[in-house]
Amino acid sequence: MTVPRFAALKGAGQKITVLTAYDYTMAALLDSAGIEGILVGDSLGMVVQGRPNTLPVTLDQIIYHAEMVGRAVHHALVVVDMPFLSYQLGTVKAIENAGRVLKETSCQAVKLEGGAEQAEVVAALVSAGIPVMGHLGLRPQSIHQLGGYGVQRDRERLVADAEAVQRAGAFAIVLECIPADVARQVTAAVRIPTIGIGAGAGCDGQVLVINDLVQLTTGRLPRHARAYADLKTVVVESVTRFRDEVRQGTFPGPQQTFE
Ligand code: KIV
Repeated sequence: MTVPRFAALKGAGQKITVLTAYDYTMAALLDSAGIEGILVGDSLGMVVQGRPNTLPVTLDQIIYHAEMVGRAVHHALVVVDMPFLSYQLGTVKAIENAGRVLKETSCQAVKLEGGAEQAEVVAALVSAGIPVMGHLGLRPQSIHQLGGYGVQRDRERLVADAEAVQRAGAFAIVLECIPADVARQVTAAVRIPTIGIGAGAGCDGQVLVINDLVQLTTGRLPRHARAYADLKTVVVESVTRFRDEVRQGTFPGPQQTFE
């Protein structure tokens, strides 16, 4: 998958599937299932690092994970989240930091949060040859400003922001936690694909955090996610059986023992 092919999926009427991945094995498994995009999300702050939000994630940390994911993926487009404060300090700093992502990993694009206020940064990255995916609606890096993880309903602003990000050269936009009819309107207003999370079925594609999709989490499932498996139970039950069999002396058995 390339950036132009990804963007062209909207015109072809094909729904786009994107999932997050943070390590080699999971990325390889997702890629083998034939999804179009893999996002090295800064959600790794919560999912991998156990932090309360995405704010502490650093550029070095995301590059560490993106390098592993990029090495595993041979088909999907791999997009990497620009962490908080890695693109807000001016266009030169943003190009330097996003450039590091492309130089030090084999990933193909970056994602950054924000609308019209980030248009200059998006345009600078694109003119430096760095493909950008936008991110509107609930922007977790602005959690303190937004006051929580609630649904974002400012229809006019969302449409204007989507148009501004498109004009600046973004090839796609994530729409997070916005009402379905607003997402439909934004999707109709732009030529580039919209990838929804908590934004209804009218988006051009859908993205989920992989740990939510397979329930490999310690917390509760967010309302916007659907669990397709229950790996939490599988892991805990497997480990409990292992513990019991070691205690009973039935593991290792003859099969696992060398003469
Ligand atoms: O960091 C992330 O996982 C994301 C998705 C929720 C879109 O930005």
